Amino acid sequence: MSSVNEETRHPFLEGLSKHRGAPPTVIVIFGASGDLTARKLVPAIFNLGLDNLLPGEFHLIGYGRRPIKDEDFRKMMDEAIGVHSRRSLNKEVWERVRQNISYHTGGYDEPETFESLAKKINKIEKKLGREMQRMFYISTPPSVFGSVIKNLGSSGMAQVHVQTKLASKVIVEKPFGRDLGSARELNAVINSVFEEPQVYRIDHYLGKETVQDLLVQRFANSIFEPLWNREYVDCVQITVAESLGVGSRGGYYDTSGALRDMIQNHTMQLVALTAMEPPVSLDPESIRDEKVKVIKAIQPLKLDTDLVRARYINGIIRGDPVKGYMDEADIPSDSGTETYAAMRLAINNWRWQGVPFYVRSGKRMARRASEIAIQFKRPPGILFSEGDKYNVAANTMVISIQPDEGVTLVMNSKIPGLETRTQPVKMHYRYSTTFGSNTPEAYERLILDAMIGDSTLFIRGDETEASWKLLTPVLKQWETSGSVGMEEYAAGSWGPSQSDHLLAQRQHKWRRSG
Ligand code: BG6
Repeated sequence: MSSVNEETRHPFLEGLSKHRGAPPTVIVIFGASGDLTARKLVPAIFNLGLDNLLPGEFHLIGYGRRPIKDEDFRKMMDEAIGVHSRRSLNKEVWERVRQNISYHTGGYDEPETFESLAKKINKIEKKLGREMQRMFYISTPPSVFGSVIKNLGSSGMAQVHVQTKLASKVIVEKPFGRDLGSARELNAVINSVFEEPQVYRIDHYLGKETVQDLLVQRFANSIFEPLWNREYVDCVQITVAESLGVGSRGGYYDTSGALRDMIQNHTMQLVALTAMEPPVSLDPESIRDEKVKVIKAIQPLKLDTDLVRARYINGIIRGDPVKGYMDEADIPSDSGTETYAAMRLAINNWRWQGVPFYVRSGKRMARRASEIAIQFKRPPGILFSEGDKYNVAANTMVISIQPDEGVTLVMNSKIPGLETRTQPVKMHYRYSTTFGSNTPEAYERLILDAMIGDSTLFIRGDETEASWKLLTPVLKQWETSGSVGMEEYAAGSWGPSQSDHLLAQRQHKWRRSG
């Protein structure tokens, strides 16, 4: 018999199936007619329904400026399930969710429509005969985040229920601010209405299975952790590469760029999880305390030597010609926005001092590949070197986040034959081979966790500020210099040559990802 009480074990240890038991919930999605609701949120909710993980009483209210009738909104969601769900439609399950979906038309700065929303929720509760957990999912353009939050406060919807003590929750989508100043302002507005434990800042990378597995690989195996430090690690390389371009999102993307869109959030989270100290426990605060310590230990970036920014020009991807960034729809001719950023980070703490963390992210790169590579120091070149020519490869552990989720160890082996020659070989572990390929989508995990009140996989306010603090001087400089100093790379390549120089300065080379 297990010595751990099943009821009190942390959900992080249990996988999705132990997550049953969220209270009756009403979720309001602000920005409901947008892309995210159809592509990710409602399909995630349907899939939770399939796994019997939704509370017995579950209501979804879409909120948006565009007037839409309830039934039309439900039809839009039918289509969303058909196109975007990971698993195919189960009519019975979907009907159970669908019958409790409605739509509320309103502006984001109109207190009256928040009042009427509150009335609608009260009516649902009255009919049910009990108070419900209220979850507010803010997926609007960032310019109205503040108004939504203030109106949630003034309409009384953010309050803790008197009888059941059920607290309201707010889930905030990215981008969380544009720089340190705006992130601080947003945190201040949020914290004037909600207590920090009610706040769930989304970074969907944290909901990815492989990102969660990173902690398991590190702290559930005894063979890696003793080597995970400056004594044995030569460098760490983190790549988040996409083969897609900006597509129809040019208008948004040009106000953002790779640094804001990918590095400040997703990539920094990967750095933090890779470099952090073992947390004292798996509770959310212990993990987030360790992550924030790492981000704070990163040295200010040297703007002239530690960074590369670039944008794609036309090129070829999988045999097809694709256009350059400046020719994409909605990109102004004087754009100074980067579609690729690379940097060398120095984490100045006991474990990592002197070990460069190279980070890169870009659109329209050779292929979609996100991975963390820990490159270990080479053994002394005494036994298997050829004269001056050192020919033993560095051992590398590669944690592949997507698309071929898994872990690879690169090590040296003897080539069979009478001569003693070595060759790097790979030991692979693939998720799909071991566990099958139908793993939950990040948003399933995150919506469920928010519903049961587990904030481990969400970003705390101080984390986001620490990350912006590091990157804001870079953004300011890049904004001032516009396209001066912007490098170019051909679509379908691995980025500009300047990013190779960033590594060559320390005798390193980017790993060939994917
Ligand atoms: C989003 C960015 O946060 O992440 C997009 O805004 C990017 O530009 C996307 O394409 C990548 O997510 P994923 O899960 O496809 O790697």
